[in-house]
Amino acid sequence: MTTSGPPDPEAAAAPGPLPGCDVHGYAIVSADGMIADRDGAMPAALRNEADWVYFQAQLDLADLVLLGRKSHELAPNPRRRRRLVASASVASLEERLDAWWWNPAAMPLRRVLATLLPGGGRVAVPGGQGVFDMLVALAAFDHFHLACATGVRLPQGLPIFSDLARGATAASVLARAGLSPRRVVTLDPVAPVAPVVLTLWERAITLPTGERRPS
Ligand SMILES: NC(=O)c1ccc[n+]([C@@H]2O[C@H](COP(=O)([O-])OP(=O)(O)OC[C@H]3O[C@@H](n4cnc5c(N)ncnc54)[C@H](OP(=O)(O)O)[C@@H]3O)[C@@H](O)[C@H]2O)c1
Repeated sequence: MTTSGPPDPEAAAAPGPLPGCDVHGYAIVSADGMIADRDGAMPAALRNEADWVYFQAQLDLADLVLLGRKSHELAPNPRRRRRLVASASVASLEERLDAWWWNPAAMPLRRVLATLLPGGGRVAVPGGQGVFDMLVALAAFDHFHLACATGVRLPQGLPIFSDLARGATAASVLARAGLSPRRVVTLDPVAPVAPVVLTLWERAITLPTGERRPS
């Protein structure tokens, strides 16, 4: 099934939280902010059992999982979670046997979510970089679950956000996207060489009084 819509009104592309949806990003990075090595592959050093268990339990809570085409192809989907795959190879929004496929240049995320989650819901976003960049630019993340393998460095690897190549850090990008670190949990105190630590970033809501507090 292919879905397209009327011309995009400005509102559909406007940045900011997506009405009715709770958007959660997930990544495990090296200490220098990389999600993959210099070949674009996820090395064994970035795989951690405690992080994997946490991540899978979180995906079970999601109504939709939004990911890039390569991540979709690399990660089997034995639990048949409902996936939305970003790819420039499709015309707009298309339902296939394995997932919904979506071209972000052809249809705004707001409209996609209004189509797939008309009653709203929880959206999990496990990357990779192009999808993370897009949601940061849209200020669409409400939460980001950022695990760090503190003993791993991946020089010339693939950064979580492309801005890391221009001197930013994962923390500075998330802060610019309106998120603040709220909780730090040690997922694995020893890992192979050093702890894996999860920082939960969350959006602050602005009250009618102008006061800001965590959502
Ligand atoms: N450590 C972690 O937490 C983590 C998280 C995610 C991925 N990874 C690893 O990172 C590697 C892959 O990451 P990646 O960033 O290269 O790949 P990716 O985001 O999974 O896939 C990239 C592809 O997704 C599509 N895409 C992404 N953003 C798009 C946009 N804004 N508009 C249109 N299409 C878009 C494009 O597909 P088309 O080419 O079809 O147009 C692009 O080539 C893998 O090794 C994976 O295991 C690690």
